[in-house]
Amino acid sequence: MKNRFNRLTSKEWLPFQKSWFRYTGDENLFRQNLRFFTHAEATGQPVFFYGRQEENLRRIAAEEQLEIITSTRTAATEIQFALLDLRDEVAALTAAGQWNSYKQNILSLIADLKPKIEQRRFLCILLPQLYLAGTFLPVAWDLAETVSGIFSLKDEKIAGLPGPGKHPDGKSFHFTTDQQIFYVLYFRKDENSGARPIPTGNDFFKQNQQQQDKTGFGKPIPSWFILKPPPRRKNEILHPAKYPEDLTTMYIEQFTRPGENVFDPMSGTGSTQVAALKAGRNGYGTELSSFFAEIAGQRCRDVVQPENFPEKAPAGDYRILQKDARQILAGDFPPLHYIITSPPYWDMLNMKGAEYQATRKSKGLQLNYSEDDRDLGNITEYQAFIDQLKSVYFHLADLLQPGRYMTIVVKNIKKKGRNYPFAWDLGRLLQEKLILLPEAFWCQDDISIAPYGYGNTWVSNTFHQYCLTFQKPY
Ligand SMILES: C[S@@+](CC[C@H](N)C(=O)[O-])C[C@H]1O[C@@H](n2cnc3c(N)ncnc32)[C@H](O)[C@@H]1O
Repeated sequence: MKNRFNRLTSKEWLPFQKSWFRYTGDENLFRQNLRFFTHAEATGQPVFFYGRQEENLRRIAAEEQLEIITSTRTAATEIQFALLDLRDEVAALTAAGQWNSYKQNILSLIADLKPKIEQRRFLCILLPQLYLAGTFLPVAWDLAETVSGIFSLKDEKIAGLPGPGKHPDGKSFHFTTDQQIFYVLYFRKDENSGARPIPTGNDFFKQNQQQQDKTGFGKPIPSWFILKPPPRRKNEILHPAKYPEDLTTMYIEQFTRPGENVFDPMSGTGSTQVAALKAGRNGYGTELSSFFAEIAGQRCRDVVQPENFPEKAPAGDYRILQKDARQILAGDFPPLHYIITSPPYWDMLNMKGAEYQATRKSKGLQLNYSEDDRDLGNITEYQAFIDQLKSVYFHLADLLQPGRYMTIVVKNIKKKGRNYPFAWDLGRLLQEKLILLPEAFWCQDDISIAPYGYGNTWVSNTFHQYCLTFQKPY
């Protein structure tokens, strides 16, 4: 197929589609983006740049036969690509108020740029999140949401820097990740741009969200990590979306002491409880599907069998009730010290392509979680789905011990060409009741990349999952 979008071969195109990457320096970062987002035909195409590394960019652009423009006033009208590198400026902000005024400046720059960018070409913004004196400010989400009132938000990539990084406060008593990531946000000028109003105000951190007192019992969580889960066993493969036990183990060890109670309201195959038991904690939970609740219970029974652990079998308590997570009663379980869970990703399993459905069907595997109306994965309207999920988590927050933590593994969703920032929406909504802490990314490295949009436009393969952690205030 002819490539009408850029100058790359399909071999070069594919690796760019992975939604996270190992950051190997600005040289590669700039060059890859310039090459990906500009046409092949003409030389000297205009590219807009804002950022501290103008010289660097001019040199790379000259090598790629592109022309760099840095002022919107003198800009030609057919800008092919705009790159805004805000990393240094954002990192230098020291108060939430500074962010709000900075954001306004960036927004007016972007509004000026809009008429000058060619239709269906891209704007890319690089920035980190902010963590100021124990308060996490998800400024990348905030900017993405605001700019999507001007351009269409198409994608985000996560750049993973070599870790471990330093604690940004120079203190070690707050739970935090090592902050070794930044966001690469992509927007497109297209027929949908500007269709929705520009959000005013700032919903992402409107309250005083400072983390309360010290916690964190184990090693700090890295801000991005790759896990190599062992092949799934027969009863685990039956479930369409399981997370690896290594992930749960890392979080359980960070947020609980041995002997404490770990909970998952949507247990699936029981990964949370199995990891909790193996780590010397107790594992509790609910699961709507009787089929999966049974598998989860069986896996827990297997874990505490002495013959499976010749040295010392886990001696923890466990209980998984087949139940709707919205119906959990205070008396159903002992006090909860930590919750780790992953919800259905809206109704995406019901949306999977015919090929996926046929393959799983031929192997006798479940296509979705259940046909049950109470299954949140069967709600088709996004807002209704989010509202229901929020009510599950608010209910659970009431059952969690004060000062304790909840981690939700989730990802942003692309459906029929539209973006639904599911992870960001949860991060924002749950702040009505809980304190949001820095996110970490489970970066998947074991899925093959699909050439979506090849030759026409850019669509990434979403291989990063958010691990959102919240603290319950005292
Ligand atoms: C992403 S999966 C969880 C996978 C699990 N973490 C694992 O590793 O196996 C989401 C689960 O939520 C369950 N679920 C959906 N709606 C529910 C509800 N209302 N109450 C309880 N569980 C529900 C589904 O049956 C499904 O097993």
